[in-house]
Amino acid sequence: MLVADRLHKVVGDGALAVTAVDEVSLQVERGELIAIVGPSGSGKSTLLAMLGALSTPTDGTVRIDGVDLSDLDERGRSELRSRRLGFVLQRPALVPFLTVSENVVLAGQIAGRPKSMASERADQLLTALGLEDRSGHRPAALSGGELQRVALARALLNDPVIVLADEPTANLDAQQGRAVVALLAEHTRGQGRAGVLVTHDESVAAVADRTLRLIDGRLADS
Ligand SMILES: Nc1ncnc2c1ncn2[C@@H]1O[C@H](COP(=O)(O)OP(=O)(O)O)[C@@H](O)[C@H]1O
Ligand SMILES: [Mg+2]
Repeated sequence: MLVADRLHKVVGDGALAVTAVDEVSLQVERGELIAIVGPSGSGKSTLLAMLGALSTPTDGTVRIDGVDLSDLDERGRSELRSRRLGFVLQRPALVPFLTVSENVVLAGQIAGRPKSMASERADQLLTALGLEDRSGHRPAALSGGELQRVALARALLNDPVIVLADEPTANLDAQQGRAVVALLAEHTRGQGRAGVLVTHDESVAAVADRTLRLIDGRLADS
């Protein structure tokens, strides 16, 4: 359902330009959760951003359910992102003046969902992530690990068909990390969904159906 063909990304300008992602091809099937592991600077975040239509490849294509992302205009890409994709970014950006619960519900409102439905789902997700007693707080009152779990709840709110998570367990202790990965795995193995999980942690990657290794922007044979 997600197919990347010879994705290439050059970042920076002129003499400072570097190839961050070098001819990466991959496929994620329905019901599959794949892990991408690799050292810091190997291009994981850059690759994930292209898979999720957050950035445009220098070369190569991404297709989601057969649709080439480069055939969509900015509006089409943004609709795709808000309705069908769920992102957990490395630095979760929450709205500071909204509560945790309002931040999660907001994702539903942006996608045009009725607020009552979004609220109910937000409560479920926050409870599954052990955050029920944090839902009325503002983001500034939360720890890094709690914020990361809020970001996951927000990403799953609209039941996205593809979840893209960039080091979602980085600030979590082992037990919290397992809860996050379990929720991700449960979601992506549901009907017709898929997920891509970027991680440093081999024990997190072990939960995925397959692991791809990135080194200097290239996929290692495995
Ligand atoms: N906007 C940018 N400008 C310049 N260099 C960048 C930019 N984004 C990423 N890079 C470089 O591209 C490489 C891959 O970065 P990144 O995808 O963030 O790696 P990872 O997520 O695996 O740590 C690194 O060398 C990084 O410094
Ligand atoms: Mg990264």
